[in-house]
Parts: sequence; structure tokens; C-alpha cells
Amino acid sequence: MPTERDEKPAEPTRIVFTEDGPALVDGPVELVAPDGTVTRADRFLVAICLCKRSRSYPLCDTSHRHRRRCRDS
Ligand code: FES
Repeated sequence: MPTERDEKPAEPTRIVFTEDGPALVDGPVELVAPDGTVTRADRFLVAICLCKRSRSYPLCDTSHRHRRRCRDS
């Protein structure tokens, strides 16, 4: 019996890499971390964190917008 996962989508999944932020993908999606942790996002558009600064990692929480402080010398 075919599962939902076995069915091919009609169109390829498009993932858009932004200039300095997340990758954007149409939801819903399931993200699987190397340790097996599964994060499910049911939003229409899901922002996947690429900077690893998100407190909601692997989902983007806009932390990439905050610049790191430079020490004055
Ligand atoms: S890309 Fe947005 S918090 Fe990492």
C-alpha cells in the first residue's frame, strides 16, 4: 500500500536560498536532524535556519538579522 511519502509531487520542491538568511520552502515539511530529532512545520512557507543562531533551530527565528558585536580595539 503506497504511503503519502511514496507519492511523487506534481512539481519539484523549490527551496529558495536567501542572501543572508534562511532557506525558504513551501510547507508543510518535516526536518530531520542528525540525531534523529524531527521538527514538523505546518506553515504555508517555512524558513529553515542556515546560520545556526536560531533559538528555534532548525527553524529561522530571524536571529540572523542581529549582527555580532565587534570589539573596539
Ligand atoms: S537563518 Fe534566520 S535565524 Fe538562522
